[in-house]
Parts: sequence; structure tokens; C-alpha cells
Amino acid sequence: MRRMSTGRIAALAGLGGLLFGYDTGVIGGAQLFIQKDFHLSSLSDELLVSCVLIGAIVGSLVAGWLVARAGRKVAIMTSGLLFVVGSIAAAAAPGAGFLDAARIVVGVAIGIVSVAAPLYVAEMAPADRRGSLVAIYQLAITIGIFAAYLVDEAFAHDEAWRIMFAIGIVPAALLVLGMRGLPESPRWLVDRGRRDEAHQVIAMLGADDAGVASELAAIDAARAADTGAGWHAVLGRSARSALIIAVGLALVQQLTGINTVIYYAPRIFKAAGLGSSSAAIWASVSVSVVNVGATFIAIRFVDRVGRKPLLFIGITGMVVALAGLSALFATTTRSDGFSLHDALTIGALWVYVIFFAFSLGPIVWIMISEVFPQNVRGPGNGIATMAGWAGNLLVSLTFLSLIDALGESGTFALYAVIGLASLMFIRLRVPETKGKTLEEIQTAITRQRPTGEASDRGSRLGKMSRP
Ligand code: BGC
Repeated sequence: MRRMSTGRIAALAGLGGLLFGYDTGVIGGAQLFIQKDFHLSSLSDELLVSCVLIGAIVGSLVAGWLVARAGRKVAIMTSGLLFVVGSIAAAAAPGAGFLDAARIVVGVAIGIVSVAAPLYVAEMAPADRRGSLVAIYQLAITIGIFAAYLVDEAFAHDEAWRIMFAIGIVPAALLVLGMRGLPESPRWLVDRGRRDEAHQVIAMLGADDAGVASELAAIDAARAADTGAGWHAVLGRSARSALIIAVGLALVQQLTGINTVIYYAPRIFKAAGLGSSSAAIWASVSVSVVNVGATFIAIRFVDRVGRKPLLFIGITGMVVALAGLSALFATTTRSDGFSLHDALTIGALWVYVIFFAFSLGPIVWIMISEVFPQNVRGPGNGIATMAGWAGNLLVSLTFLSLIDALGESGTFALYAVIGLASLMFIRLRVPETKGKTLEEIQTAITRQRPTGEASDRGSRLGKMSRP
């Protein structure tokens, strides 16, 4: 039997994350030149930027259905094809309306991949490495955002926004081709009655005979406890706790303001008094490098230390950094040289991004893929991911108006307060999932005590014996 490494699976699904990061980031640099070529009003300009987010909201809902019906692998391949089509169309767009439509297609692809890729990796991974393998997907998102900055910088001189979009075609084509050689998730195969294939896939992933038997038994036991499937069931009582945890985490990830920094960093640095535009742009590049680097902390520790401790440390650090930013903006003075105030602002943004990168960044994707019972995992992931994209759209659309109303200082203070409230939510509702099989998590969450600590009294299903 041919062995298949989970690292290879995570790397390929990571291409989906790369495209997610690249295609959300690339518009930042392209926007200026498109505005010039197509003579966009500020309203059309905002619409262009929002198209990807609107598409992603739709795409994540579609994905909830697609991953359940057609499978995880087919959903990822579909997203890859949509990335190819959308990127070609965006690069060749004759006018603003066409470009908006192309960016919506890319957004739908992002929505689908943001549901299907982490879910696929989580279902293929052994329990003790699931966290770090899904965190690789987040690493790829951060690399994609960084790559978009570099590409935007490289082609800005020629104002070549079409090339900026076209570059996304390459990883998208690789995603489609690479996924062809990977197997479907065994949990989905069992759901569709394709038990023999599920058996083969589990063995291919390295389990011995006993391991295959115990994993199949665990999947069967989880299925026996199921109380229905599909959209109706995900809104019913048995999945309610999981839905609250997943939607809550997705909203916390967005409403603590990460994308104001990711999308508007040069602007924030300028508002903080950082002299020239190019200094502000390079300070922003430094933010995206820090974002990539700090994600490795999660890859290393998420399966050792656990999800909850990293979330607590991460969000606490973000709140402290946001409070610091708020204080710094309250005392901004314009200066031509590089002042202590500039250094402190860059430092506070770095601290904020570092603490996000090893906590809310990866762990939200990990836990959305872990908490739902098997029968509603597709629709559940779809709804939670959609909530995250809606939160992203809300923050992106309100950031500039919030600054007008509350000032930068008040706006960052608001995100800090949301961060504080989310610590309480995590303490009360979110269980630790480190090292448990998906089936054990299902049992624990369905029996969740009111304090949010998952009970371990449920049946201890056999752990898989995969390397
Ligand atoms: C979030 C994105 C964000 C990115 C930053 C992801 O986990 O979902 O909204 O832009 O992290 O690294």
C-alpha cells in the first residue's frame, strides 16, 4: 500500500491558504492604478475592495453544502478552478463592472477554500498533530499576504495591476493539479457508505490494522450518536454548543480588528506620524513578515500547550498592544525624522500582530474544523466561516468611519474592549481540544457543562495508532 504523508496533504491544502492570503492582499496595491485606469469614484472603489469579501460570504455558504455533498477534495478542486477563472478574468477585465464580477468569483473561491481546506486537513490528521497541521494552512495565508505586498511593490512602478492579478493563476492551477493525486477524507467516505475506500485511506495514512479498525469504530460510534444531518440539524439542539463556539470564535478573530492592520497598515503608520509614504510602506512590510514568523510559534506549540492557553496569552497580548496604540494615537505629533513615538507605534503593531499570529489566527481555523459533530461538520463550518467573512466585511467597511467618529485612539480602544469581552467568552464556552480525536471532541461538546469545560466522562474512544 502506497503511504501518504500528512505533511504533503497539509502543504497542498496550504496552497488554498496561500491563494486566500494573496487574493485578499493583492487589491491593496492594485487598487490605486485601477482607480486611475477606470476613473472610479470612491464608492466604486470601495465596492471593488469589498467584492472579494462579498464573494467569500457566498462561497462559504456554498461550501457548507458542497463539502457535504461532493466531498472535501472536490470542494477544494472547485475552488482552485474558480481561482483560475476569476484571476484570468480580473487580469483581462475591460471595465469596472467586469472586474467587480471577476473579483466576486475569486471571493467565492476564497470562501469555499476557507471552509474546505482546514476541514480536509483536520479530518486527515492524527489527533496529536492536527493543530500544527491546520496551523500550516494559516502560515500559508500569511505567506500569501506577504507575497501580495511584494508583488504589489514590484509592479507598482509600471502600474501593472493586471499582472498582479494574473500571478494568482499559478498557485491556483497547482492546487487543482496537486489535489487530483490526494485521497478523499475517510470520515466523508464512511458517511457516503464507501467504507472500503475509507479503510484504504486510513491505512494509506500509516495506521496498522488495529489502528484502522479503531478509527473506523470511532467514526461509526460518532455517526450512531448523530441526530440528523444537513442545515436543519446544524441549527438544532445537538449542534448548538458547537455552533456558538465556532461562530463566536470566527467573530472574535475579526472583530478584534486584525484586518485594519493587515489592509490599512500604511495608512495607520502615516496617521501615527511616520514621515514619508515609503517609510510607511516598508513599516507595513515589516508587519507582514512578523505575521509570517510568529505563526511558527503556533505550529510548534498548539498541540503541546493546547488551544486555550495560546488563545488566552494571545488575546491578552493583543489587548495590551491595542491599549498602547490607543495611548500613542492620543499623543501623536508629526515629525520628519524617525522619532521614539514612531518606534513605539511600529513596536505596538508588531506586538499586536505577533500575539494574533500564534493565537486567533491559526486557532480559530483549527477549532472551527474540530468542534462540529460529524453529521453537520460541512454546514457548521460553512455558517461559522461565513460569520467570520461577514465580520471581516463589517470591520473593513466601518474602520474609516469609526476613525472619523472616534479617532484612531478611540477605534483601537474599542477593539481592545472587544478583546477583553472575548476572553470571558473563551473561558466560559470554549473547551480544550488538544490531543483528542474528532469523535472524542464531539462527545465532549455534546455533553458540555455550563462552565464550558468539556466533560471527559464520555466514552473514551480508542486513539488512532498513526505515526
Ligand atoms: C484571518 C484573516 C487575516 C489573516 C492575517 C486569518 O486567519 O482569517 O482575516 O487577514 O489571518 O494573517
